[in-house]
Amino acid sequence: MIPKRYKDIAADDWAKKIARMEQSVLMIGGVGVGKTYKAAQIYNIFGKSRDFIDVSEYLREANRRKWLKTTDASERYREWIDEVMNAKLLVLDDLGIEKADEQNASIIREIIQRRYNDASMTIITTNLNGKELEARYSARLISRVYEDYQVIVMKGADRRRDKMSVFKMGVEDENDIGKTD
Ligand SMILES: Nc1ncnc2c1ncn2[C@@H]1O[C@H](COP(=O)(O)OP(=O)(O)OP(=O)(O)O)[C@@H](O)[C@H]1O
Ligand SMILES: [Mg+2]
Repeated sequence: MIPKRYKDIAADDWAKKIARMEQSVLMIGGVGVGKTYKAAQIYNIFGKSRDFIDVSEYLREANRRKWLKTTDASERYREWIDEVMNAKLLVLDDLGIEKADEQNASIIREIIQRRYNDASMTIITTNLNGKELEARYSARLISRVYEDYQVIVMKGADRRRDKMSVFKMGVEDENDIGKTD
């Protein structure tokens, strides 16, 4: 489910076109440049089945289910992951923030690979660059992403900082905030 903050963001022409074409997108960029905002623009107007996941949160739950030591545990894990696999649109928000271990990487590989094979639309937002994505999830996987996805590298300032409102009494520079001397 999309976070409340991004629920009502309206689509611009670019987002409408991407949604109409069912084009997968990889959005790379630093903190606060507007990646999730753009992903939300597309997600919000997408008419078919859709799923928006915060990657770290999702993986914590996926791992919990995967390693449950009960008889029907693997079935429950499959059910859980199939929902994500089968959505017509899947947003993977903040890929690369999760703990960098092999368990997490293998679940991500499984999802992206399966959606590549099914030619399903996926939107990924990440702070990692191409080299870092390859190092973490394998060059083999990222090669497939490059083939299918429109790659958007977003540059610019942190929009959250632009919005920061500070009562600047005696503060000359925002870097001074928090200093007591
Ligand atoms: N095109 C835009 N117009 C107006 N506000 C925007 C736009 N893009 C982003 N914002 C606002 O700027 C803030 C940061 O955007 P967003 O959350 O999309 O950044 P992000 O790139 O996903 O950052 P992070 O890497 O930390 O997840 C949000 O409050 C968002 O609503
Ligand atoms: Mg974001």
